[in-house]
Amino acid sequence: MAIRNVLTKEEAALYKKSRIITKFDDRLHQLLDDMADTLIESNGVGLAAPQVGILRRAVLVLETNVAEDEDEYIIELINPEIIETAGEEEGPEGCLSVPGEYGLVVRPTYVKVRAQDRFGEWFEVEGEGLTARAFCHEIDHLEGVLYISKCTRMLSEDEIKTEDDEE
Ligand code: NI
Repeated sequence: MAIRNVLTKEEAALYKKSRIITKFDDRLHQLLDDMADTLIESNGVGLAAPQVGILRRAVLVLETNVAEDEDEYIIELINPEIIETAGEEEGPEGCLSVPGEYGLVVRPTYVKVRAQDRFGEWFEVEGEGLTARAFCHEIDHLEGVLYISKCTRMLSEDEIKTEDDEE
């Protein structure tokens, strides 16, 4: 396991479409383990393979909607597709590839995703609120889309400070 370097928005790889994953081998597992280390180290809620320079369709999302006595856990999504959405909410969003900045993005409040696990088994998973937002944000990365290209507006430094204070 290792921390990988996270690309920032100047890097061309972040704007490219990622390819389907067909091999569910040790190399993929190593990538996913490294991505998990990188995500935890950077306190993010999601990370997509292209952010560590691998143009393959793999993302991690941290499920934060857990009971108080439960631990947050990482959901691994290989070749994910959004198959259902509901609701709409504008909310603040950040990205490890756009450090220190936040913008307002309209996202569904509920999302159902179909994906493969690290062994190639298909499954479905639902997310609400921040988790739904993270599913959308991370899957956008696989299309080469950063939130800064679809946000309503970026937050000012004062607004970011206020958000931090509220947390
Ligand atoms: Ni991101």
